[in-house]
Amino acid sequence: MSLTNQPDPEARARVVAQDLQNVMHPIVQHRALEKSQLVVTGAQGSTIVDADGSTYLDAMAGLWCVNIGYGRTELAQIAAEQMEQVAYYPHTAMNLPAARLAEQINALMGGGYHTYFVNSGSEANEAGFKVARQYAKHEFPGQFRFKTIARYYAYHGTTLATLAAGGMGERKMKFEPFAGEFIHVPAPTCYRCPLGLEYPSCKVACAKAIETTILGEGPQTVAEVIVEPIMSGVGVAVPPDEYLPMVEAICRKYDVLLHVDEVINGFGRTGKMFGHQHYGISPDIMAVAKGIVSAYLPIAATVVKDSVFNSFLGEVAEARQVMQVNTYGGHPAAAAVAVRNIEIMLEEKLADRSATMGAHLIEGLRERLFRHAITGDVRGKGLLIGIELVTDRESRTQLDGALVQGVVDFCKANGVIVGRSGGGARHSNTIVLSPPLIITRSECDTLIEVLDKALAATVARMAGQG
Ligand SMILES: Cc1ncc(COP(=O)(O)O)c(C=O)c1O
Repeated sequence: MSLTNQPDPEARARVVAQDLQNVMHPIVQHRALEKSQLVVTGAQGSTIVDADGSTYLDAMAGLWCVNIGYGRTELAQIAAEQMEQVAYYPHTAMNLPAARLAEQINALMGGGYHTYFVNSGSEANEAGFKVARQYAKHEFPGQFRFKTIARYYAYHGTTLATLAAGGMGERKMKFEPFAGEFIHVPAPTCYRCPLGLEYPSCKVACAKAIETTILGEGPQTVAEVIVEPIMSGVGVAVPPDEYLPMVEAICRKYDVLLHVDEVINGFGRTGKMFGHQHYGISPDIMAVAKGIVSAYLPIAATVVKDSVFNSFLGEVAEARQVMQVNTYGGHPAAAAVAVRNIEIMLEEKLADRSATMGAHLIEGLRERLFRHAITGDVRGKGLLIGIELVTDRESRTQLDGALVQGVVDFCKANGVIVGRSGGGARHSNTIVLSPPLIITRSECDTLIEVLDKALAATVARMAGQG
């Protein structure tokens, strides 16, 4: 099957049969896949191509990750050249691309950080939990700092520990019980404040809840607080400007490490290189994945402030070294591709582009979509955007799940892939957008147009049902 948009129905039918008989897919129901599938055989810019010849504007950049867009063939050459030179050697030794990549990340952070390489966002957070615990063992002998404070409705990954840290009940319940070291606090989901308050009279009570929790648990038991600066999966929750500085101050007060999850926010998604840079905070641990390599190959990282890194230095006999290892960490080919990916982002100023194109998109969406009574909120930063759907703006009652899915399906039928938040009954009514950062103005306008029609069709459907 070629990488063009020449329809090839026979090859497509073969792949579908082969897949349905042999593959177990993540998170989607196979019965649904029997009826409708995407078989992606080509991709360029912000567009993906199905083997049946259909093209789609991919307003999700895959899974929030193809930041520089599809079809950058120079990255294939870089991977091939690196694999010809040295395809692999474990990262207990050094290799050129991984050293360069760590140097790039350090520069993007303004210096003072070391990078530990892993293979996915989940693993990057998991390694972060372990760094926090090991650091606490070194620095606070006699204390027992092992707990992570996290937020309800957060998503930090799919492994058991990252799921436990996450706060999405329906993603967790089939795997429970978890060990009890992840403690949850209310999230800054302001449109649906979990504390029933309103900004600014709330005085950011959700940040203060972190202090109450640290005190309640006992500071000598708490290793870290984990936050995704702008929560993505729950439907894009942009916190009040004071929130993260308040969280940082609380962490400092109790010697608790601040761990930021930049798996989606990072690498230009929110209009700055990293999401936390909007808020002037300085994380101790940072997890990155997705945009680090725009998903051209799997690589991710746990980035650690030097004050934490220094705790891992000592004589060999002291056994202070990082007590973790993974086979593929610092993979030379993936690192080489990530290095070039970051260079492309800097050369093409994609973080700035994300800020300006995101502002254009949000403005256009607000102008067009608020004409429909079911548009509750349009929010975001850069090209990370959520459109929350409600039965009416007054009550803010969540739009029925089938209707929200109807919007996603309408967009697909009209050539646009959009996402939907995952947050159980309370938070799964938001359409989410996270397109490649190279999306054009006219593609943004297509996106607005199709969403406008999708909401109009939904309102008509509701009137028909009523
Ligand atoms: C905020 C956040 N953290 C971590 C992860 C886990 O990353 P991965 O799927 O690469 O393990 C995700 C995945 O979407 C995410 O959205």
